[in-house]
Amino acid sequence: MEKGKVDALLGIVFGDEGKGKVVDFFTPRYDVVARFAGGPNAGHTIIFGGKKFVLRSIPSGIFNDGALNVIGNGCVIAPDLFMQEAQELEAAGYTLTDRLHISRRAHLILPTHRLLDRAYEAAKGKDKVGTTGKGIGPTYSDKATRVGLRVGDILENFPEKYARLKARHEQILRDLGFTDYDIAGEEARWMQGVEYMKQFPLTDTEVEINRLLAEGKSVLAEGAQGSLLDIDHGTYPFVSSSSTTVGGVCTGLGVAPQRIGHVYGIFKAYSTRVGSGPFPVELFDETGDRLRDIGHEYGAVTGRNRRCGWIDLVALKYAIMINGVTDLVMMKSDVLDTFASIRVCTAYRKGGEVTDTMPYDTEGWEAVYEELPGWQTPLTALRDEADFPAPFRAYIDYLERELQTPIKIVSVSPDREATILR
Ligand code: GDP
Ligand code: IMO
Ligand code: MG
Repeated sequence: MEKGKVDALLGIVFGDEGKGKVVDFFTPRYDVVARFAGGPNAGHTIIFGGKKFVLRSIPSGIFNDGALNVIGNGCVIAPDLFMQEAQELEAAGYTLTDRLHISRRAHLILPTHRLLDRAYEAAKGKDKVGTTGKGIGPTYSDKATRVGLRVGDILENFPEKYARLKARHEQILRDLGFTDYDIAGEEARWMQGVEYMKQFPLTDTEVEINRLLAEGKSVLAEGAQGSLLDIDHGTYPFVSSSSTTVGGVCTGLGVAPQRIGHVYGIFKAYSTRVGSGPFPVELFDETGDRLRDIGHEYGAVTGRNRRCGWIDLVALKYAIMINGVTDLVMMKSDVLDTFASIRVCTAYRKGGEVTDTMPYDTEGWEAVYEELPGWQTPLTALRDEADFPAPFRAYIDYLERELQTPIKIVSVSPDREATILR
């Protein structure tokens, strides 16, 4: 953490790397914690003192009193889900209104955006993305088409603006033959959410953040999703619809590139992916099932099974390059505790061709592995690097050598306390 800088904590694979846990752990060091992209497609789990929370739109800095939490202009927000999430936190004893600011420029997810999400997926058939169904793609599409509604719109002539966009969506739904729906109840709750949002400061968060930076304050940008789900750099078209990589921090918060300090790249000691799309390291055997069972790899938002496999250095090297990662954070190391040997994907092979750089089309490639010895020792109780078993240290050394980037944090259990700094 440096005064006047924005550090970024970015998922650098397919999401669900443990961003929520580490942002919560880091928050006492920062003055501001800000989400810059995505919306309720995210599910960030935070566990401390025997309590568990899953945040979707609200930044993971909310459990510490000191920091201001910001939902930045690059985010999309569903008022009904936001209200539900905020009320759950209030019921748990956290007051939010003076600690959470929302950008007026963030875009609103309408109930009809969620219908469009479902309709587009249905129309894609077997090529469906496997979205979270939260209306993310249609909302960012409307932003790019320049017809979207922003948070600031709720303060003026909102019913008219809402009716106009809703009518446009209904026309598209009719054209797609998607007419069997009833959103009256959902819409009423959504409107309640709009009213509820008005008690929060709806501000020009880019101005606020830059003012705080000029005063020497520090900001932590909380990533959502992961680099391989980035609209530009992910496994398109099996991606989300926002810029999840470091450039998204600049556009999604309105901060200049020279303000960026550390870029923390967070990954798991193995690989997972939710939804469709290429995943060369995917295991369909009992090793994959074992990773899923031990790692509890079921989505925090949709409850879907996460696809599992060994760690993928091709993907990690690519994401480290795109983001300029300065520090790596390795999560869920404990999930590998019982494996006698551990595999590492070092390249992809298709026919006679072998590559160790990310191909344009990751479809049809199979993983090439190296094998390392497992540590077969429980890591969860460890709090000091000096106590790491030798094969675990060798795994870390190997990854650091291959990735040319230091692993500065190692996590050995979901709990806030089980975070080891190196
Ligand atoms: P995020 O979306 O990146 O914030 O990650 P998720 O919350 O979707 O998924 C990460 C899951 O791993 C959550 O259930 C966490 O509680 C859990 N978790 C985080 N760190 C560790 C760890 O070091 N070990 C284990 N076993 N679980 C962890
Ligand atoms: P966090 O922040 C994992 C995936 C979906 C789908 C694709 C597009 O918790 O890491 P979308 O609803 O965004 O249009 O879905 O992206 N996806 C995620 N996978 N973690 C996430 O967020 C995700 N957000 C979206 O499963 O494949
Ligand atoms: Mg998640």
